[in-house]
Amino acid sequence: MKNTKKTIKDFELLGKKVLMRVDFNVPIKNGEITDDNRIVQALPTIKYALDNGARLILLSHLGRIKTEEDKINKSLLNVSRRLKELLSREVVFVDETKGAKLEEKINSLSNGEVLMIENTRFEDLNDKAESKNSEELGKYWASLGDIFINDAFGTAHRAHASNVGIASNISESGVGFLLEKEVKYLGEAVDNPQRPFVAILGGAKVSDKIDVIERLLEVADKIIIGGGMAYTFLKAKGENIGSSLLESEKLEYAKEMLDRGKDKILLPIDSVYGSEFSENATARIGDSSSVKSHELGLDIGPKTIDLFEEELKSAKTVVWNGPMGVSEWKQFSKGTISICEALANSAALTIVGGGDSAAAAIKFGYADKVSHISTGGGASLQYLEGKSLPGLDAIKNK
Ligand code: 3PG
Repeated sequence: MKNTKKTIKDFELLGKKVLMRVDFNVPIKNGEITDDNRIVQALPTIKYALDNGARLILLSHLGRIKTEEDKINKSLLNVSRRLKELLSREVVFVDETKGAKLEEKINSLSNGEVLMIENTRFEDLNDKAESKNSEELGKYWASLGDIFINDAFGTAHRAHASNVGIASNISESGVGFLLEKEVKYLGEAVDNPQRPFVAILGGAKVSDKIDVIERLLEVADKIIIGGGMAYTFLKAKGENIGSSLLESEKLEYAKEMLDRGKDKILLPIDSVYGSEFSENATARIGDSSSVKSHELGLDIGPKTIDLFEEELKSAKTVVWNGPMGVSEWKQFSKGTISICEALANSAALTIVGGGDSAAAAIKFGYADKVSHISTGGGASLQYLEGKSLPGLDAIKNK
């Protein structure tokens, strides 16, 4: 961010109606929040606003809303309850996204009180007003407050009414501590890295990582590739991959990247193969010379773990995005855990890009052992790709 954007600290908040965009798009199963990290990470900015006497109005989306039925499981009510527990303060929840009831509740807020409005994407039932950044909706939400603070890093790659729309229609705007921290860490890692800079990419699909691989080939010293996406690269090298995940239409791309990357790209030299795609599959360690046609690579193998760990030992900056295998299944989780371990033992600046790798690092107990875990999957990838983030760009400069 290069310290150019206004932050919440630049404003006198006492008595002001502060609209704050947070990203509380958290995973929910059977009505229960299964990972509240995004709420926890937003607490410093929320507490700062309340401690400084703001009348705080929180906005967030949750999931995607295409039909009336989608609204049933996508209310922010449970999220507001979790926030109340974490803050140990009352959180007024308004089950509307606009209208007289919402306005009245906002007007009756006292200094240091917080209100949360219903899922901003409920407005998508109205001709996609939120996601298409309707001018009218952005203006309306902006009219509800005096200052806009964007702390939703996870949504910063979207140009929606509740981030870009509000920011463009209000005179005062700034970023919150979480967004500031995210951009600082990612910036330190990719814009001006201490070298060697090693990037680790994983996850299922090459197609999700196309632009990021191209950018990393320019800025990183080494790119380690694991996870399902590695098999398209191995195939491109002419190796046998059995029934492992293959994106045939990306083979040419993979060849080109391997050619361009030369010795920059490091691929697995062995795998844990499963007899089928199942948690209880029979697992076997082997390399491409031994893989049978029905077997699929579901994790990196022990020799690959050693190879990747060795590479990480000398790194001064590490950015990791995407698990090394099907880490939610115990017998295929060792590769991902070993990356967590290598990052934890490293003296480098270690950054875990959001999404599945962040969830894995938290689940396996490494949250406090790396420099930073991003709360943004798509947003951190977009940053790594060197593209701008509309949610950040829309905020006023100092
Ligand atoms: C995310 O989880 O990546 C963000 O909350 C953005 O959500 P979206 O992909 O539904 O826009």
